[in-house]
Amino acid sequence: MNLEDLLLIIPLAIIGVFTYILLPMVWGAAYAPSPKAKASMILRRVIETYYKDKDVVRVIDLGSGFGRVCFEAVKIDSRVVCHGVDIDPLKILWSRAIARIKGINARATFTRGNILKIDLEGYDIIYMFLWPGIVLKIEEKILREVRKECIVISLEHPLRLLKSEKIDDFYIAFISSARKSKNEEAVNIA
Ligand SMILES: C[S@@+](CC[C@H](N)C(=O)[O-])C[C@H]1O[C@@H](n2cnc3c(N)ncnc32)[C@H](O)[C@@H]1O
Repeated sequence: MNLEDLLLIIPLAIIGVFTYILLPMVWGAAYAPSPKAKASMILRRVIETYYKDKDVVRVIDLGSGFGRVCFEAVKIDSRVVCHGVDIDPLKILWSRAIARIKGINARATFTRGNILKIDLEGYDIIYMFLWPGIVLKIEEKILREVRKECIVISLEHPLRLLKSEKIDDFYIAFISSARKSKNEEAVNIA
């Protein structure tokens, strides 16, 4: 390979990486990972406050990327199971492979899908790090479809329909009954 080829390959590779990161914008959010320590901190706090007596705590990460939120979640407590959903099949394959290598594939599971089309019922914690437009659509979906009590956590982007409390960079809402048009209960875990 000569210098001319190399000079062409490098910018093409950079463009490829950026395209891969930005492409999921089409479905709702580009890729950026949650900071591990922060995700772990907020999940631990919610689990210890609300679910300390529960046998199994079910977490879902909407747009799970390369799986780190689920990997952090299952570390917190052996009662935690976490399901990640992402539109990108490569990220799902990667997450499944890492879960298998870590030996946690029974508790950290991943499926490819559009988060606007999946069933959100039955989870104790609904976590997301998405962009404002899709966060709003997810809130509408929760209000329409979720009947069970749960906690909704959004990193960086405010919840606009669900009444929430801000802790660090997270917006947290307690859903007592999604049948209400607007949630009237605030969380209290500060
Ligand atoms: C900002 S990243 C968050 C990754 C991970 N949840 C974390 O916090 O580390 C957003 C992810 O959402 C995925 N995504 C965007 N729109 C989606 C959709 N409609 N359905 C499923 N996944 C989607 C992207 O592929 C990307 O991996």
